Amino acid sequence: MKILIIGNMGYIGPTVVRELAYQHPNAVLHGYDNAYFAHCLTGSKCLPERYLEKQFFGDVRNISEDMLEGYSAVVQLAAVSNDPMGSRFAKVTKEINQDATVLLAKYAAKAGVKNFVFASSCSVYGVASGAPRKENDPVAPVTDYAKSKIGSENSLTDIDGEMVITSLRFATACGMSDRLRLDLVLNDFVACALSQRKITVLSDGTPWRPLIDVADMARAIDWAVQRKANNGGRILNINTGSNERNHQVRDLASAVADAVPGTTISINTDAAVDSRSYQVDFDLFAKLAPNHQPQMSLLDSIDGLIKGLRRMQFSDVEFRTSPLMRLRVLQSHIDSGDLSESLEWSK
Ligand SMILES: NC(=O)c1ccc[n+]([C@@H]2O[C@H](COP(=O)([O-])OP(=O)(O)OC[C@H]3O[C@@H](n4cnc5c(N)ncnc54)[C@H](O)[C@@H]3O)[C@@H](O)[C@H]2O)c1
Repeated sequence: MKILIIGNMGYIGPTVVRELAYQHPNAVLHGYDNAYFAHCLTGSKCLPERYLEKQFFGDVRNISEDMLEGYSAVVQLAAVSNDPMGSRFAKVTKEINQDATVLLAKYAAKAGVKNFVFASSCSVYGVASGAPRKENDPVAPVTDYAKSKIGSENSLTDIDGEMVITSLRFATACGMSDRLRLDLVLNDFVACALSQRKITVLSDGTPWRPLIDVADMARAIDWAVQRKANNGGRILNINTGSNERNHQVRDLASAVADAVPGTTISINTDAAVDSRSYQVDFDLFAKLAPNHQPQMSLLDSIDGLIKGLRRMQFSDVEFRTSPLMRLRVLQSHIDSGDLSESLEWSK
């Protein structure tokens, strides 16, 4: 097995690489990344890329067909990867997340790649009150980021040939990583609790958000790189997470406060209702991937974050304006003249 992981140097990538290396000791693993966050290591004693046979540096927008020759699987993680970044870089978000993904998949199909795995998102459900959303329910993406994910999924369904394509509609990520980020709800709450002993919930606490730990995302990717067409169809869009991990934001805050004694919670009862609220049905993933189901409970994720942040001697009250927020890192590259507004490195 020879796997190319594109966008491997972010938050999720290091965990994916480690899981694939552990599960497939004889596999050849290569990474490809534009290294926006390569320097943002969080307490890792060794470079997470040590598991790879090769690390390529480059922009996914410039990948050519010949670069995909010989791979059995391609995992596409590279993206402008959250709503605030998507709104700051709307045009680039479509170019990287959607246009480059679809071209990449076309090239991969031509090059004879057997499995293509795309990191999609449950945020495609957007505004979704009522019953947990199933894969065939209507989508209602609210943000440029979510629109780029559903746009990619839709175009991927047009790719002919035999390549098995899996779009994993991931729940919101959480948990410790070698390149931790704190711009995610659970990670933010743990960081608030450790630095201030106070969690400020920016909504009224009622929105629903399904969560998945990065370790479980890696397990799901391991399933998808080996998936056969007779297990779910040649092209599959699948909710990836577990039913037990649909949480209301206020319950996440309570669980974190319980884990960090002395933490108080401030809920903004006057906040406008957060439109990004949805519960998701993960039955299909349970049925098709019984051996790759999420293992991490909410408390496991919280515990991992607490231990990881303590190892980093984390205490920054101002972390929401620190390099642990991806948008801050990109903006600082732009301010220093190293990166253009279209997220291309200066020569
Ligand atoms: N974190 C979540 O909650 C979540 C949930 C669902 C899906 N996803 C998706 O999973 C994937 C990985 O997420 P993450 O949290 O690790 O994101 P991240 O921003 O931490 O990492 C993305 C990586 O892609 C690279 N990259 C971005 N643009 C690139 C380009 N033009 N060329 C080459 N490399 C480029 C970055 O350098 C970075 O290493 C993304 O596609 C994201 O949308 C994330």
